[in-house]
Amino acid sequence: MRVAAILLAAGQGRRFSAQSASPVAKQYLTLGGRPVIRHAADALVPHVQILQPVGDRAALDDALSGLAPDGCAVLAAVPGGETRQASVSAGLEALDRLPADQRPDLVLIHDGARPYVPADVTRAVIDALGAHAGVIPGVPVADTIKRAHDGIITDTVPRTDLYRAQTPQGFRFELLRDLHRGAAASDATDDAALLETAGHHVAIVAGSEDNIKLTYKEDLVRLERLIGPTLLPRM
Ligand code: CTP
Ligand code: MG
Repeated sequence: MRVAAILLAAGQGRRFSAQSASPVAKQYLTLGGRPVIRHAADALVPHVQILQPVGDRAALDDALSGLAPDGCAVLAAVPGGETRQASVSAGLEALDRLPADQRPDLVLIHDGARPYVPADVTRAVIDALGAHAGVIPGVPVADTIKRAHDGIITDTVPRTDLYRAQTPQGFRFELLRDLHRGAAASDATDDAALLETAGHHVAIVAGSEDNIKLTYKEDLVRLERLIGPTLLPRM
């Protein structure tokens, strides 16, 4: 089975920038000596045959330079879209343009802002794709979840069966490509939802509490503990 990974880096990181006044998007911050996006790429390439970065070509060339993994082709970055889902589509279409004998059977979609994905999580996703059309890693929700309206709780959502979804999320390539080309694509909040709506079973495997997405400043504090200190760009 040929496995490709789409590495998403076309976001602006608005929530993070609002707190930190960082002049670079969060996925290009240097953490433990390497950009966040580079950590994500390094974690994925041992598991895949093709890496398709999505985002600014010059910035990605710079951040991924010297990445020459054995047995994995790193393709030229393609521009993303306005939404995360549009960026996923751009990556899928770029992979579809490959000659038929190089096109992947399976595709992983990974947030470039998730630098610390453990190898066993990626492995578990790929392994479960042997039996399922879609697989996502998740961690059980530990907190009690309340629904509130205008500051008043309306109900308590039972947390049994609730998970926080992580990436890399894995899919059969042609299925995900076709669902992205369909009418429902722009309404879906993530790729797994596209399969769920179309009636496909999506499996969930164990994610990791360390597989943190850099979203807010406090995530950077946790990631620094795992990876190393941030080198803040000079302003
Ligand atoms: N992403 C993307 N294209 C977009 C939006 C997001 O490729 N149009 C990528 C981001 O670069 C990130 C991943 O999707 O690696 C997860 O998205 P998120 O954490 O929401 O990042 P941003 O959209 O950049 O951040 P924010 O929502 O705070 O602006
Ligand atoms: Mg976003």
